[in-house]
Amino acid sequence: MNSMETHKKLTIGLFGFGVVGEGLYRVLQQTPSLSARIKKICIKDPSKKRNAPDILFTTDKEEILGDPEINVIVEVINETAAAYQIVTTALKNGKDVVSASKKMIAENLPALLRLQQETGRSLLYEAAACASIPVIRNLEEYYDNDLLHGIKAIVNGSTNFILTKILDDRLEFQQALVLAQQLGFAEADPQLDVDGYDALNKWIILLNHAYGIIEKPENIVFTGIQHIQLSDAAVAKEKMFEIKLVAQAQKLQNGKVAAFVLPQFVKAEDQLSFVKNEYNGVVIESGFADKQFFYGKGAGSFPTASAVLSDISALRYDYHYEYKKLYHQPNTLTDDFYLRVFLSFEDIAHILKEKFECIEEWHAQEKRKYLVGILPFTALKNETWWKDNNTSLILMPEPVIEDIDTRRLKKKSLELAGIF
Ligand code: HSE
Repeated sequence: MNSMETHKKLTIGLFGFGVVGEGLYRVLQQTPSLSARIKKICIKDPSKKRNAPDILFTTDKEEILGDPEINVIVEVINETAAAYQIVTTALKNGKDVVSASKKMIAENLPALLRLQQETGRSLLYEAAACASIPVIRNLEEYYDNDLLHGIKAIVNGSTNFILTKILDDRLEFQQALVLAQQLGFAEADPQLDVDGYDALNKWIILLNHAYGIIEKPENIVFTGIQHIQLSDAAVAKEKMFEIKLVAQAQKLQNGKVAAFVLPQFVKAEDQLSFVKNEYNGVVIESGFADKQFFYGKGAGSFPTASAVLSDISALRYDYHYEYKKLYHQPNTLTDDFYLRVFLSFEDIAHILKEKFECIEEWHAQEKRKYLVGILPFTALKNETWWKDNNTSLILMPEPVIEDIDTRRLKKKSLELAGIF
């Protein structure tokens, strides 16, 4: 038998014909070598004009899920509950599944893992995190637990696009957001991007493949770019920093993992500072290789479709995620570390000063006051003071501190005690 004959023939049922679904349809047309054919496409609104033959479309999901000839379901719809229904039914019906629904996956990882084990079918979702960058498969296959010291990433294209447009091109926030929507990067509800939920969902997925950690979204400290002020951008310029929404995980000396999704000042020499517009970037720090940098489009029709296409292609070889770290060497998260933060605010009365280990900088003369100081991570967890009342928190570069020299810090704080 020649090697071509060992590949499975794929007959696809596609759910969704929006930005990603139509992108996939086009990309597949340009990839005849894949021998994958879309048999049916399930859509919600049959009255919309579509750029594909009418015969392909149906509004009846059973026509796809119950069709024994269809062996792969590709699900790229917007509704989380419906996506979960489709994906779980497909797996139970013995079909392999490719999904791009990051929120659905992040919220249902344990159940989806169980179903994959029970059914022996494969669920692949490379497009759900960093779109065109093959980060899930890399974390899954290449980086052993012991080698992975840290990973930090820009995982949301829309917020990165907005920050670039505001800071580099001096656009207003609202203009930049509308542009991101027009270009098809933003979520149907753009607040999911702006407030950090989308980045959080992607981080939940990547934490599993990087460290074998499964955590509920509500247990991770996060925020988006909604609190960032123009005056913060001015401080960034003065210090020659960029502002990025960064998802970060770092293995500490005690073997536990610190993880969060927060805006961060990024130094000019940091690889993430090169990541502009809708691009995503991932910096992986590993034991022997030192730093590696992955860069690519994190949103948009063809970049996302390219990841879906790659998953479809992998199914020809019966590829499935093994979740090796989760099943054999899981890690745990810790709250036992400190963060160096920049905080700008209108009124010091809203700042929980007693939480700080020390204050390193204090700027009271500016119209909008700000400080740089060290906070225990627990001061952010399950607390909202750092994002309420128009307060803006941005992490300083290299923000994670494991141990602090209390005497040195106390002294410094005492010098600045007058300010509080
Ligand atoms: N809204 C998402 C983003 C789309 O901007 O990154 C890609 O997941």
